[in-house]
Amino acid sequence: MIGSVSASPSQQRILPSQQQISREIGELAAAPARGVPQPLLDYPPYRSSLLRHPTKALRHAVPELIERTAPVFGERDIDAVEADLTIQHSGEPLGERMVVTGRVVDADGRPVRGQLVEIWQANAAGRYLHNHDQHHAPIDPNFTGVGRCLTDDDGQYRFITIKPGPYPWRNHDNAWRPAHIHFSLFGRAFTERLVTQMYFPADPLMPYDPISQSITDPAVLARLIARYDHTLSMPETMTGYRWDIVLSGSRRTAMEPEEDQP
Ligand SMILES: [Fe+2]
Repeated sequence: MIGSVSASPSQQRILPSQQQISREIGELAAAPARGVPQPLLDYPPYRSSLLRHPTKALRHAVPELIERTAPVFGERDIDAVEADLTIQHSGEPLGERMVVTGRVVDADGRPVRGQLVEIWQANAAGRYLHNHDQHHAPIDPNFTGVGRCLTDDDGQYRFITIKPGPYPWRNHDNAWRPAHIHFSLFGRAFTERLVTQMYFPADPLMPYDPISQSITDPAVLARLIARYDHTLSMPETMTGYRWDIVLSGSRRTAMEPEEDQP
């Protein structure tokens, strides 16, 4: 989601309270849905999911041959500078500098090599560089908030960036998104693209957030949370977080529909 917009007093009155949303989250967590994909696509505490979730069974189309095999991304398509979100402008961005790295693997832990990994995120103040984001937080002229890289032979990706701030949105009164980074894994063609979000450990906003809580299995949600890794932190420079992405199997990383990327 792209930030919030300022609301008129009349709009404010019709928003449900955090208490109401938290009550709904609690009720659904107490009776978790079984046998459905995570996250829940129709999750009433996340209000816009009521109208946006698919109501009909998916129709499987047979992709054309070109869609199965293209486009592909190779070393020549990606510049190394794209993986460092802190050096894309003339000055240094504000905020906590950090490295985020991990492996993209299959169900058996085998590396997924040459995978295009893309990220987008808010700046340290919780502001996206996007026309729709009217959150009353400053834009950082030295931070665009987008990056991409290819996984190496060990399936490893690595970004240097700024820790994103939480930001308000208008799901309910006083609604704030926990800090997160959006991730896309392109696959071998458009038909395989996967999108998800990475969260940070011990974020106090997580229990209040109906988007992350739409994953009602705590074990599945835990797999979306990076861990602080002191061996990745660099003296005088940056902190380090590690987050692995599992594409299949019982420990698969939860993914979301492409149009549903708050
Ligand atoms: Fe977001």
